[in-house]
Amino acid sequence: MQVRGWTKFRSWALATAIVSVGLVSPVTLHAQGSAADGITPEVLFTATCGACHTLDKATGQRLNRADWEWVMDDMESYGMIWLTPVQRESIVDYLVDNYGRNVPR
Ligand code: HEC
Repeated sequence: MQVRGWTKFRSWALATAIVSVGLVSPVTLHAQGSAADGITPEVLFTATCGACHTLDKATGQRLNRADWEWVMDDMESYGMIWLTPVQRESIVDYLVDNYGRNVPR
């Protein structure tokens, strides 16, 4: 019984932590990366992907959509947990357009 209660508390604490990170993130303060609010996909990319390392980790790559999706999963495993699904999609679109397999370096 004790153990159960603790487990429940832990998942509650984790959920709260995730929500809190989302609230303080500069990226989520504004909407979805549409041009209308001034947060273009490029700004979303710069703010998000520059949060943990330099942008050249991404800009030096040329990947297809499936591989960029894989990179996003990988970054989420490193802690990039504040994006909405729409924000994530708009970054992937941006990456495919600018750093896709066939884009010249
Ligand atoms: C929460 C921190 C974090 C964020 C945000 C983040 N990354 Fe990373 N990224 C890492 C870590 C940690 C590594 C691996 C260690 C290293 O190489 O510095 C890494 C490595 C990479 C690599 C090298 C290949 C690999 O998978 O190790 C690429 C490409 C990359 N990131 C792209 C991105 C892109 C694109 C974004 C934005 C969508 C992004 N990262 C956002 C933490 C992050």
